[in-house]
Parts: sequence; C-alpha cells; structure tokens
Amino acid sequence: MMASIIRIKVNGTKKRVEVEPRELLVDVIRDKLGLVGTKVGCETSNCGACTVIVDGRAVKSCTMFAVQADGKEITTVEGLSKDGELHPIQKAFVEKHGMQCGFCTSGMLMTAYWLLNNRRNPNDGEIKRHFSGNLCRCTGYQDIIESVKHASRLMYPKEEQIEVSQ
Ligand code: FES
Ligand code: FES
Repeated sequence: MMASIIRIKVNGTKKRVEVEPRELLVDVIRDKLGLVGTKVGCETSNCGACTVIVDGRAVKSCTMFAVQADGKEITTVEGLSKDGELHPIQKAFVEKHGMQCGFCTSGMLMTAYWLLNNRRNPNDGEIKRHFSGNLCRCTGYQDIIESVKHASRLMYPKEEQIEVSQ
C-alpha cells in the first residue's frame, strides 16, 4: 500500500506526516509524533484510553485511520497545559484524586475537556453518561465525577453552580 502525506494541526502546531492507509490515528500520535500521553488500552473502542479531540469532538483515536484526520485539528493531553501551567481540569483531577494508576487518566481528561467545553455545569447523571465510554480499571469513578465537577467550578468560577445528583 502506498503511503501518503496528511496535514494536521496537533496542539496548535501544523504537522505533515507520512502515513500508510492501515495506520490508526492513535499509533501515529504515539509513534510518529511522540505524544505518548495518549494511551492504547483495548484497541477495540471500549476503554476510551486513547481519547483525543478532533475538530472539537472527543474521538477514540484507535477507531480512526490516520488518513481520516487529514486537514483536521487535534488536541491531545499534552495540549492541555499552557506555559507550564496545568489546565484547570488537570488541577481538579489532582486536587480531587481523580486518578490511581493513571492509565485511563489522559482519556478521562480529554473527555472532561470536551464535556466542559460544551456544558459548563454538568450534573452527576450527565457526567456518567458522557463518561460511559471511558473505563477505569482501578474503578475510581466517584473521584472522577468529583474531579469533573471541581473542574467545572475552576473553569467557570462565576457560573451558578447547581449540584444535582442522579
Ligand atoms: S484503546 Fe481506544 S478505546 Fe480502548
Ligand atoms: S486510574 Fe487506573 S485505570 Fe483508571
């Protein structure tokens, strides 16, 4: 199979990458761009460890061929912090203990990033629904929910914060 060049913007930087038609986006992100914060768990679209943002939407990058990303803008977990400062979502996960072994964490962070950019003050039920495609083998789900709610307060401090449990 012939390799081709794709043009993508990754964490704000334009890249030209040679890819083969069979290559998955997650493998290109990790092996060709060196962004190993994105993890490979199941490779079958179940675990969410490989979640990145593609043109504003959370995508499991093991379910997408790299050639399908041509012309698109991608944000990985490495793109969250700015000038050495953790993103509020990362701070929230640290402060509320939203991780244990950390294997699922980059995927959780990217799903949280997508959710909180679209929904400022999600309640417990909305968080659970949006994270239904992200598995944590350490089963730290309650702390992850608390981390997402804390991140919402850090990102939107002036918003009215209504806690609704479901
Ligand atoms: S590695 Fe992509 S969903 Fe599990
Ligand atoms: S923190 Fe270990 S898999 Fe989630």
